[in-house]
Amino acid sequence: MTQPWMNTALSADERADLLVAQLTLDDMISLVHGPMPALCNPPPEDAAMGAGYILGIPRLGIPPLNETDASLGIANPRRVRAGDGATGLPSGLALASSWDIDLAYEAGAMVGSEARDKGFNVLLGGGANLTREPRCGRNFEYLGEDPLLAGKLAGAGIKGAQSNQIVCTLKHFALNDQETCRHVVDARIDEAALRESDLLAFQIAIEDGDPGSIMCAYNKVNGEWAGENEFLLTQVLKKDWGYRGWVMSDWGAVHSTAKAVMAGLDQESGEQLDKQVYFGAPLKAAVEDGEVPFERLTDMVHRILRSLFLHGVFDAPAERRETDYAANGEVALKAAEHGIVLLKNQNSVLPISRKARRIAVIGGHADQGVLSGGGSSQVIPVGAPGLELEVGGVAGAFVKVTYHSSSPLRAMEAEAPQTQFMFNDGSDPAAAADLARTCDLAIVFATQWATEAEDLPSLSLPDDQDALISSVARANSRTIVVLETGTPVVMPWLDQVAGVLQAWYSGTRGGEAISRVLFGEVNPSGRLPISFPRSVEDLVRPEIPGLIFGPPIEGQTLPTTRPDVQQHKGRFSVEHPEGADVGYRWYDRQGSTPLFPFGFGLSYTDFAYSALALTGGETITAKFEVTNTGTRQGIETAQVYARVAGGSRLIGWARVSLKAGESRHVTVTADPRLLATYDLGVPGWRIAPGAVEVTIGPDAQRASLAGSVVLAESLIAP
Ligand code: BGC
Repeated sequence: MTQPWMNTALSADERADLLVAQLTLDDMISLVHGPMPALCNPPPEDAAMGAGYILGIPRLGIPPLNETDASLGIANPRRVRAGDGATGLPSGLALASSWDIDLAYEAGAMVGSEARDKGFNVLLGGGANLTREPRCGRNFEYLGEDPLLAGKLAGAGIKGAQSNQIVCTLKHFALNDQETCRHVVDARIDEAALRESDLLAFQIAIEDGDPGSIMCAYNKVNGEWAGENEFLLTQVLKKDWGYRGWVMSDWGAVHSTAKAVMAGLDQESGEQLDKQVYFGAPLKAAVEDGEVPFERLTDMVHRILRSLFLHGVFDAPAERRETDYAANGEVALKAAEHGIVLLKNQNSVLPISRKARRIAVIGGHADQGVLSGGGSSQVIPVGAPGLELEVGGVAGAFVKVTYHSSSPLRAMEAEAPQTQFMFNDGSDPAAAADLARTCDLAIVFATQWATEAEDLPSLSLPDDQDALISSVARANSRTIVVLETGTPVVMPWLDQVAGVLQAWYSGTRGGEAISRVLFGEVNPSGRLPISFPRSVEDLVRPEIPGLIFGPPIEGQTLPTTRPDVQQHKGRFSVEHPEGADVGYRWYDRQGSTPLFPFGFGLSYTDFAYSALALTGGETITAKFEVTNTGTRQGIETAQVYARVAGGSRLIGWARVSLKAGESRHVTVTADPRLLATYDLGVPGWRIAPGAVEVTIGPDAQRASLAGSVVLAESLIAP
């Protein structure tokens, strides 16, 4: 065999070793940095035109790395691939609302297959940063506030994506929890707290998904840039967790050569966005003069090649194929249906009766489509978008507010042909109320656009939509609000409306999913992966650190935040006094009640819990029975919480689909790390001996079953 590293009988490590031995110094340097192809003039001929590109080495059969953003589908944010649409999944928060690990795998597998179809072999997704700031502009890309839920879903998504013989990345490592000042902020937190929260989410995702690559974050963590943070990249990731893949930078997140390399960064991505190509000529010089040992460069390259061998990139080169958008759309539809959360359903106003004669549909461009979030994850719809609106602000330079063309109004018309649907755009609350008064029922579609690179200025719906909802609700007591938001919103009108459906950003087939839930074709089963606060006063940081509003831009109604990067000059830090108590854990410690708790979601049927049996020892196993006591099929997500170190923690869940009257015994066993605290003195996880209270129920605040169990003392490696 002329290329012995192509022998699939060898391990990925052996193959990488054989190939590394063939590389010149220049080859190695070329593998550890690369540009954004769209900013190259001309772009490389074999570039698939995604966010990133690493030159291949044809002489040795090393393929170019064609990298695309892919958190919610194959992105095309600046439309560098003219006319190339993709299947848009619902947002990460919607997927997380399903609490469905198999669905996360299926969604990841679908996105991975579209990546291959478009010639990509490295996916830049998904994100496992925990939601510490409910106004963070990127919450919609992430998976909520709990390390177990986020870690499990991220891991399954990565595994699904990599089942296509490509590499998937996990990002943004770590603590990139606000977009405001993301390029300068120093996120400060206690190490043990970090290990018990955000790092645990990454750890679980890596264990379950084995991503070929990890992307560092923009921010600093405890004084060091995430991309040159030896503690994060070498101590935690590579030593404690034994991670064998490569660490790539975020785009524009490299600040040095030798320091970054020696801290554990293996590849510089999107190099035109850095002050210089640190991993090009400067790295070559640093290796030649011994500042960076040659062995470290070899390690960097070995890590890259090993991942490419391990995940099949060499053996099954990505090649362009036709995409089956119809089949992929079914996955997006399923994800949207399972991610919609029913928050209020007074007097069973939902599902909508087939006898309804006349329904007012108001606002949210519901006649044209469903909203999506902005930034590098932006999926451009296949065919024409439902609607595109110009934006100003930081984001306006490269993004438009994009609606997928799946119109909820059209879907409802198809769903209930006997009903008359009357649309009003919501721009005039009085006119909307007049219409609602003449109808059996009114549905207000409320939207909140969020985007990468900016945080939301408040927790309120923008553009006076609160007033619109109140006005409609005063005119018709049977008013239902459908929220198409990137993150939680406050609901001053909650008592006035009969129903609330949290539809998030619902993707390519979102309008149909919303319609099917409203009309009861689908029984809603989504559960909040994030707490909904009552007001900003409930938050750890009532004001977003560093948030400065710019002057209004004429004709623009969207929020514009102007983080003044220069003002802070990199000396801007945000303390994290909440530590590991993110989201519901924080509310629990404060003894305060959010508007809707983590885990919350209603169904069109009812469930009961019984027969709890708990076992202790090295971990906790909970056995119990769930019964559907209502009159139709439904899915219950039974959540198991334990009180550890004085606070409440999700330690597992069971998602059960039950027919009316059906019961099922379920068993949930905790990951022991969730029962431990991280002890820096060991170092490692320490389970304190003694009794632990366990509650089981439909959300973080309602316990249907409770018991206590005794744990044995134990230590677990980091
Ligand atoms: C984002 C990353 C993304 C990269 C490439 C960055 O601005 O933070 O999530 O993968 O751009 O588009």
